Amino acid sequence: MIIEIQEILFDEQTIAKKIDELAAQISKDYAGKDLVLVGILKGAAIFMADLMRRISIPVAIDFVCASSYGMATVPAREIRITKDIGADIKGRHVLLVDMIIDTGETLACLFRKTAEKGPASLKAVVLLDKKPRRTVDVPLAYRGFEIPDKFVVGYGVDCAERYRNLP
Ligand code: IMP
Ligand code: MG
Repeated sequence: MIIEIQEILFDEQTIAKKIDELAAQISKDYAGKDLVLVGILKGAAIFMADLMRRISIPVAIDFVCASSYGMATVPAREIRITKDIGADIKGRHVLLVDMIIDTGETLACLFRKTAEKGPASLKAVVLLDKKPRRTVDVPLAYRGFEIPDKFVVGYGVDCAERYRNLP
């Protein structure tokens, strides 16, 4: 699907600055704790890579791959885990790293599944929060930007697997 890019919401510098702030706060909050960042693929790949490099405390990383059955502009309804967390996270402090939260269904599902593995704590950071679209209540410990109900692409986010590479 080819879509027309209508506007740039956040440029590279703006994103980098926000990630600096998030990373500083996370580094402070988790100092002295056994932190595992769990990136939610594929959308969070770029965010995760940038965020982890700005965090100043020791961190372990892992990934979970979640995808919705729908394609393109239809939001997730049924969530499929195609790659589960590989690390043993029992008793460790887990921070789920997601690129964009829309209805909240995906993150809510991952909260439930991850909680079953017995982490010491479980929180989430998202870069983009499409708050007006939320249908389930999901606690967000850290949020980059709140955005209106617009379909966004780039910085890891796709439309039918395209545009993830836009900076
Ligand atoms: P949720 O489960 O409704 O919160 O949807 C989360 C997922 O839907 C995200 O991880 C994206 O994969 C996808 N999504 C939601 N909004 C957008 C968008 O504006 N552009 C591209 N994908 C989106
Ligand atoms: Mg998608």
